[in-house]
Amino acid sequence: MKPQAVQSPFLQSCDIGPSPFRMESFVMVIFGGAGDLSRRKLLPTLLHLFLEGELPQEFYIVGVGRPGLSHQAYRAMMKEAVKEHMGEGPLDAQSWAAFAKRLFYSPGDLQDMGTYRRLTLRLRRLLRRCAEHVIYYLAVPPDALPHVLKGLEHSRACPRGERSKVIVEKPFGTDRASAVRLNRLIHKVFSEAQVYRIDHYLSKEPVQNIMFLRFSNTIFERLWNSRYIEHVQITAAEDTGVGDRGAFYEQTGVVRDMLQSHLLQLLALVAMEPPIGFEPDFIRDEKVKIFRSIRPLDEAYIREFAVRGQYGPGEVGGQRTRGYRQEKGVRGDSTTPTFCALKLQVANWRWAGVPFYLRTGKRLKRKLTEIALVFKQPPLRLFGRACDVLEPNCLLLTIQPRERICLSFGVKYPYGSNQIYPVKMVFGYQEAFNLRPHPPYERLLVDCMKGDLTLFVRQDGVEAMWAVVDPLIQYWEAHPPKGFPNYRAGTWGPRGAERLLARGGRKWLLG
Ligand code: BG6
Repeated sequence: MKPQAVQSPFLQSCDIGPSPFRMESFVMVIFGGAGDLSRRKLLPTLLHLFLEGELPQEFYIVGVGRPGLSHQAYRAMMKEAVKEHMGEGPLDAQSWAAFAKRLFYSPGDLQDMGTYRRLTLRLRRLLRRCAEHVIYYLAVPPDALPHVLKGLEHSRACPRGERSKVIVEKPFGTDRASAVRLNRLIHKVFSEAQVYRIDHYLSKEPVQNIMFLRFSNTIFERLWNSRYIEHVQITAAEDTGVGDRGAFYEQTGVVRDMLQSHLLQLLALVAMEPPIGFEPDFIRDEKVKIFRSIRPLDEAYIREFAVRGQYGPGEVGGQRTRGYRQEKGVRGDSTTPTFCALKLQVANWRWAGVPFYLRTGKRLKRKLTEIALVFKQPPLRLFGRACDVLEPNCLLLTIQPRERICLSFGVKYPYGSNQIYPVKMVFGYQEAFNLRPHPPYERLLVDCMKGDLTLFVRQDGVEAMWAVVDPLIQYWEAHPPKGFPNYRAGTWGPRGAERLLARGGRKWLLG
């Protein structure tokens, strides 16, 4: 049931409303069109949106890739891919035919200018069929990005001005300097308003909800500061290992892969000030301020407040699993971290003195992404010894696997003595809204088609995020760890992560 609008003389609305975003007809050019991301995520999502009637009347998709395929062969390949990855029962032949006739393929090497010339011809033909703009999806490995951007710069494949957009996947560079270089290359072809940098965590409903929870409720926001909150925890635990991405992960490690992007985005949503309006740049402005107010990590601080780890063999969900060093593509003596935990300080008016503990890792006990706001204890132990068992109040926002919000507090245990007993109030998304799982790319693709940049990372944001983690990466790379692997697969990571909190009399919470 849709919520009803409430008319109230007490509600003052923000004068700066959201801009009207409109779905426009498009041609989407996917560089890496025959690759893994296209087969597993992009094409199944596009087909799903088409079947749901979410796409405009006029749209075309052009895959660009190295394999020399005809349009027909590409369509056949994508048909197999969507059958395997869409997971929505049998594919109806008529619907597929209607979708497939909008699919084209333009083969070629990304370093060869001929590839872009052929693409230009194809695009001209499609644009004549009244597509309003072109979306370039750069679904290619990071080292191929400069070639594609150069190709677009020097060919006429890219319509100028507002008639094109570009979607860039993470990782966006490998440190701040490389991100700055990449941004410069992108800006030779596109203005910042045309750039959609993806962080798929921002498409998760409970992540988007953080702002709604904070800024549409009086009861939470009033308490959302250092006066009431004792500390914050952000956990993104995965039970899976690196799978077949070992070679990629060797270059990346947990800090670049998860901390620099997903965890810092979560932190920003929890810590940011209310934006002056619900517009992409107002929201992104507030996030950037948070990244900039994180206290820089120096070497002494890293030694004391950051913990790294790498998984060894173990058991996850009843299955024996190999260690990181035994994964395909990984060196036998690798020192790449697959786990990190650290304390960050957001040095601004609202948060000074409140530690933010972040942890993330692979092959942990179970999949869990969660944010815990742990409140301060009441000023006086009014109930004497009974207070000793009083757990602090905690607001737990579980992002996955079960999207829910849980507020815990103490009540009097009935009958008997004056005992305090911890209880929970739980809101479950699934129960309340009967959520069907949305593929993460669905919302992001639609937002890009409409021109809504809210859920995409801006240039200054991505550079500021790298500035936070660069000292950590550099220090850890310069000082290889002793004693890796240091946690068994299927546990909650190295003991150092427990000690990091225990030193402040705290412990990691689990929903
Ligand atoms: C990706 C990382 O960005 O996020 C992966 O590259 C990680 O290593 C994945 O597994 C986690 O995403 P999710 O949505 O499963 O939590």
